[in-house]
Amino acid sequence: MSITPRQKQLVQESFKLVEPIADQAAQIFYQTLFEYDPSLKRLFKSDIRSQGKKLMMTLKVAVKGLDDLDALIPVLQQLAARHVEYGVKAKDFTPVGNALLYTLKVGLGEKWNRELRQAWVDTFRAMATIMKAHSFND
Ligand code: HEM
Repeated sequence: MSITPRQKQLVQESFKLVEPIADQAAQIFYQTLFEYDPSLKRLFKSDIRSQGKKLMMTLKVAVKGLDDLDALIPVLQQLAARHVEYGVKAKDFTPVGNALLYTLKVGLGEKWNRELRQAWVDTFRAMATIMKAHSFND
């Protein structure tokens, strides 16, 4: 995965700022995601609070994983296999990635900038690429 040390630092530091506003972030994320693609609603079975925890888990996978990329690959492969079970398709990574970026932008306010955006774009893209290569063939 091609994430620079600077990008890793940016992603990890910005995540710390989102953690305290996890509930609001989750609300923005799911509202935005379902605006982008209402058909994704049916994939999410649990209530919004536990969805919030899931969003933070998603981000945590990204943030923690950057410390040890080799160890992250099998974790992402297992995660990908579970996502196939949830009914997720390869094309769904685009609205999810966009909703995540929008959530970070709103959540971080004036701390959001182009460099930070690019760091998250590259991180999400790297994870999505590994997940899609492993389990998604549509
Ligand atoms: C880099 C990309 C992603 C990461 C790191 C990620 C991470 C996670 C994690 C950690 C969970 C908690 C359950 C588990 O560990 O299996 C989860 C659940 C879930 N994710 Fe993702 N995810 C990603 C992309 C997506 C995409 C593209 C979709 C498509 C809509 C999606 C839909 C779901 C659904 C439906 C659940 C289960 C929700 C429920 O039980 O109600 N995820 N995800």
